[in-house]
Amino acid sequence: MTTCSAPGKVYLFGEHAVVYGEPAVPCAVERRARVTVDPRDDGRIRVDAADLSLDGFTVTWGDSIDDRPDVDVPASLVEAAMEYIEAAVQQARDAADAPGAGFDIAVESAIPLGAGLGSSAAVVVAGIDAATRALGTELEPEEVARRAYEAEYEVQEGQASRADTFCSAMGGAVRVEGDDTRTIDAPPLPFVVGYDGGAGDTGELVAGVRALREEHAFAADTVETVGDLTREGERLLADADPGSEPSDELLAELGGLMDFNHGLLEALGVSARSLDAMVWAAREAGAHGAKLTGAGGGGCVVALDPSPETEHALGYTAECEQSFRAELATEGVRVEV
Ligand code: PMV
Repeated sequence: MTTCSAPGKVYLFGEHAVVYGEPAVPCAVERRARVTVDPRDDGRIRVDAADLSLDGFTVTWGDSIDDRPDVDVPASLVEAAMEYIEAAVQQARDAADAPGAGFDIAVESAIPLGAGLGSSAAVVVAGIDAATRALGTELEPEEVARRAYEAEYEVQEGQASRADTFCSAMGGAVRVEGDDTRTIDAPPLPFVVGYDGGAGDTGELVAGVRALREEHAFAADTVETVGDLTREGERLLADADPGSEPSDELLAELGGLMDFNHGLLEALGVSARSLDAMVWAAREAGAHGAKLTGAGGGGCVVALDPSPETEHALGYTAECEQSFRAELATEGVRVEV
């Protein structure tokens, strides 16, 4: 049996604008998906994903995803999870030159699904690494990231950016601009996440921003402004000492940019009442800054606060189902023993 884990991520800056070639800075956070694989002889794939939904499910399927049996959880969730896992397995088969390989796969994830924390990327990254290792092939994290992107690209029909998969595979803070992905230095940032229990429809939200941007020059300018503030944030990170706790001054400056970024995302129509409520709860609790993370519409916000105040305040906020600290994960995909 081989187990690998990979972290989820938050966007410090730049979601949506990254779709139009602006830079974005996602950061890996210490909330992981763990995937355990065990090769099997008959070429089939059996998935046990007890933690992926409230009820959990176990499905077995053969060569085709259409062979799946009926299971007692929402079809869309099973469908999505199976498609991602199937695509990851296919990447591992290709990488290890083992076209007929089958697996028993167990997925456990502490990352809320579809909520802007990169849950699917973490499962795909950990799955590719575990399955290739189980077949006797070791890939560099960059290669895991590349293959995970291919898998997500296929499942999301060309909509995926490289941000989630690269960040999950490499860990730490990363910078994404088009096809250019790299890790960057960052001090240990004190992230706090608030989760409203829901999820946005990424495709619809991306389409909404695209339409606004095509219709109004000021919306296109808004997207460019997100790029400008992201570059400003990158300069702040580059000037900071990655080995020491961030100063209050740095946190205040980064937080100010996060607040600005949230305002622009709100203007672009991708926030939600629940996300705004959590952002304001975090600010009122003394967070240095707060914004939605990911596609928006529902899901998660991320705030910067080294004290416990924001986590507590979010916990008492009606719109918040779960709040937790999510420190910067310096390690990306890794083998678990
Ligand atoms: O919600 P997430 O974590 O999948 O992030 C979506 C980020 C977007 O910029 C809106 C789309 C993308 O693929 O970059």
